[in-house]
Parts: sequence; C-alpha cells; structure tokens
Amino acid sequence: MGNVVVCDHPLIQHKLTFIRDERTDTKLFRECVDEVATLMAYEITRGIALAPVRLQTPVGPAEGLAIRGRMPGLVPILRAGLGMTDGILKVLPAAKIGHIGLYRDPATLQPVEYYTKLPADAGERLLIVIDPMLATGGSAIAAIDYLKRQGCRDIRLMCLIAAPEGIAAVREAHSDVDIYVAAIDERLNDHGYIVPGLGDAGDRLFGTR
Ligand code: PRP
Ligand code: URA
Repeated sequence: MGNVVVCDHPLIQHKLTFIRDERTDTKLFRECVDEVATLMAYEITRGIALAPVRLQTPVGPAEGLAIRGRMPGLVPILRAGLGMTDGILKVLPAAKIGHIGLYRDPATLQPVEYYTKLPADAGERLLIVIDPMLATGGSAIAAIDYLKRQGCRDIRLMCLIAAPEGIAAVREAHSDVDIYVAAIDERLNDHGYIVPGLGDAGDRLFGTR
C-alpha cells in the first residue's frame, strides 16, 4: 500500500496559512503556492536512487553522488497544478514536464479530460503528479489512470490540501501511489469543496473570480 506523507515542516505550514486566508491576494497566493511546492519537492524526492560518481576536485579525486537514471518528470493537472510547477523546477530544473488537462464538472463532480501531452520517455521516469487540491479524488485518479495506460508505473502524487475522502479514493484506485500533502482537512461540503480548504485553487491562482 502506498504511503500518505503529511509534509509538516514549519515553513510549509506557515505559508499554507497565507494560502488558506481569504484576504490573500492573487500575487501573494501565487508566491506562497510556488514556495510551498519548492519545499514539498524536498520531501517527495527524499529516497530517490543515487549512484556514485567519480570526479576530480581542485584538490584531488573524490566520489560524489548523483541521481541514478533519468530525472523525475512533473505532470501538473491543468489548470491549478501549473501553480506548483515552477516551484518544483527550482530544485529539479532538468525535469521534463507532461500536462493533463482536466476540469471537474460542477454538477456531477466527475473529471472531464480535454488535453494530454507527455514526454516520450515518461514510462522510464518517476512521475510526480501535481495538483493543489485532492477533493473527491476523481481528477487525480483519472490522471493516474491515464499515466498507467501510457505505460507509466513509478508515480507519486503531490497536493497541498486533501480531503480524507480523496485520499481514501486514490488509495483504493491506486494503492501503489505514494501521496504527499501539506494538510489533510476535515471533509468535503455538498459542492465537493474541501472544508476548510482554500476555496477554488484555479480561480485564486489565476484571478478568474
Ligand atoms: C480542481 C483541482 C483539482 C480538482 C480536485 O480543479 O485543481 O484538479 O478540482 O477535485 P476532485 O478531487 O474532486 O477531482 P478544477 O476542476 O476546478 O479545474 P481548474 O484547475 O481548471 O480550475
Ligand atoms: N477544487 C478546488 O479548487 N477546491 C476544492 O476545495 C475542491 C476542488
């Protein structure tokens, strides 16, 4: 069974408080999402395989360590996953990026796919699926379903805020996928929003409401 990791570093929790606050404007919201994504990238990449590397320092021969094999790939779920992508790229600047366009139908809460594009060698990489919100779990499950249909096997999910219902749904559908979150909130409301959550992540990131 995949792990659920709550990234409880004080800097993450401090910045998450600004992200949640309804008084936070678009600029600060974007900045804090970006910074939390960078900090969470440390946690999600902990334990990735390293290989020894021989090199020469100005003083003499040395052995270093480098990430073994291909760099991880990032797969933001559009739109809101885009808000976390640059933050992760700060520590994984060579990452390839795939995109999965999904929106949640407001009436049925079911994800509707409208765009996909992956790196050609996505199946040979660790893929980090990125979305600030894990609510019912429908969007994350659909994204991971798609990746597995394309032959991807090594997948981790990174979200800012999750509802217990979303975590349970992803674990049920994809028990091999580790889930990294900054917080697990109380529940979903009748409209499928996370309570207390942060509202609509896409709208707050892009200023569309
Ligand atoms: C939001 C969010 C997730 C999804 C989560 O996206 O960014 O993708 O809802 O809900 P779920 O777990 O119930 O599927 P939304 O559909 O609002 O699209 P947007 O990012 O384009 O605004
Ligand atoms: N999507 C969001 O942006 N926020 C929620 O609380 C749930 C889904």
